[in-house]
Amino acid sequence: MKISAARQSVLECSADAVVIAIRSDQRLSPAAEQVDHALGGLIQRLLDDDDFSAAHATTCLLYPSAGLAADCVVLVGIEASPGDQAARISREAAGAAAKLLAGRQRSCVAFFGSFPDPAAAVCGAMAGCTGQDLFRRDKKLFPFSELQFADCTPDQLAHGQALGEAVNWTRALVNAPPADMYPGSFVDQVQQVLAGLPIQTEVWDAERLATKRCRAILAVGRGSARPPQLLMLHYRGAAKDAPVLGLVGKGVTFDSGGLSLKPSEGMLDMKCDMAGAATVVGAMQAIAQLKLPVNVSAYCGLVENMVSGDSYKLGDVIHTRAGITVEVHNTDAEGRLVLADTLDVAKSQGVSHLIDLATLTGACMVALGRSVSGVFTNQQTWCDELLASATVAGDWAWQLPMFSLYDELISSPVADIKNVGDGRWGGAITAAKFLERFVGDLPWVHVDIAGPSFSDRSCKWLDGGASGCFVPTLVALTQRYSTR
Ligand code: BES
Ligand code: MN
Ligand code: ZN
Repeated sequence: MKISAARQSVLECSADAVVIAIRSDQRLSPAAEQVDHALGGLIQRLLDDDDFSAAHATTCLLYPSAGLAADCVVLVGIEASPGDQAARISREAAGAAAKLLAGRQRSCVAFFGSFPDPAAAVCGAMAGCTGQDLFRRDKKLFPFSELQFADCTPDQLAHGQALGEAVNWTRALVNAPPADMYPGSFVDQVQQVLAGLPIQTEVWDAERLATKRCRAILAVGRGSARPPQLLMLHYRGAAKDAPVLGLVGKGVTFDSGGLSLKPSEGMLDMKCDMAGAATVVGAMQAIAQLKLPVNVSAYCGLVENMVSGDSYKLGDVIHTRAGITVEVHNTDAEGRLVLADTLDVAKSQGVSHLIDLATLTGACMVALGRSVSGVFTNQQTWCDELLASATVAGDWAWQLPMFSLYDELISSPVADIKNVGDGRWGGAITAAKFLERFVGDLPWVHVDIAGPSFSDRSCKWLDGGASGCFVPTLVALTQRYSTR
């Protein structure tokens, strides 16, 4: 998608469609005034008659017969006083307008009227016009080939484009069918897409994982015909001896549950179980594209959780890479096992701070709903930086407690710990408590994205399927990290 600054005035703009942001307090921007005037006061009339309220992300599609060079106009409501929600408001409003217009083939769409966070609007428009219908003959969405933005600096355009490309790449990786997306093909795709960027990749195959004592990753992957992989990406935008930020992603390319097999309804969407890994590689792409002055390494534990005569079993004791023994009580609690070894590798490579992202528990969705990620930490100041980044970037997140009273819930009579809690209560927290054992005293935040990373339905600003959530937050956090 070509992204550029709108060079013509809104009335002369020769795009296939123009989008005009209308503030929810109904005060018209200069561009909106111009269009209103050219259309004989139509916008003001729509507002006065309550045919269009300009409430957040509401839209109104017009085909004026004269007055504008473009054949189609979309009015989109934008919250007049977004407070600290500027990024989310901008992304959703621009996304809603783009998604509406993408219902028919249009090559160029131009955005006027101002969005409080222009880069987020660019990202939202790129995501909004792109869907999950790769395999449909009858497309529901037709991505534009060109997007233009008025009131946007070159820097904001570049930032928005890098974010939009990363979000859409993350979405495409997650949306790919699990027959096509398995540990080996994930690695191939990532290496292909990142080839032109200053990122060094390193891959441990099953044989290497064995010599590196990653027995938890190998245990989970043993039931699959597709061997596991550990993918590492290194970006060095700062001095050699500057600290390294570590990003870790759960990359279960399909989660059948293993011998603790999931029922069909619960298994249908389990291609989404590599969303943590996809988010981390998407963020790395944007970070390198934007040449952020920071050192970042990403670690993706990639496995397929399957059933076979050689599957890992309930009652097995896994000797993890960190030296902690784990009794397996449920093979469907596989993500924490994969992350245990992956976190330990990141730690042993000397990162200074850790963030992990994982579609880890259904319990997190019970606690927070489908749209909000759960956040867990062993160090509040680092967690506060992540939460502030999530607000700035427009991702929903909420911290849950890590009280020591939860520790006993993962104790095992035969090993150091077990891989589930005591019953299902507090399941998102006991999963985080498990991970905490593997990060030592490094500042660490765990983000459970099971809800927001994937949706079985479409919304006003985004098609169903993968959302690309938390790519913007990771980029914002990386910028913050670089200036500490
Ligand atoms: N990948 C799932 C969690 C999940 C559920 C992600 C729904 C997205 C949507 C994870 O591996 C899992 O199966 N967790 C179990 C843990 C339980 C066995 C302790 C769960 O949440 O039921
Ligand atoms: Mn599972
Ligand atoms: Zn899983």
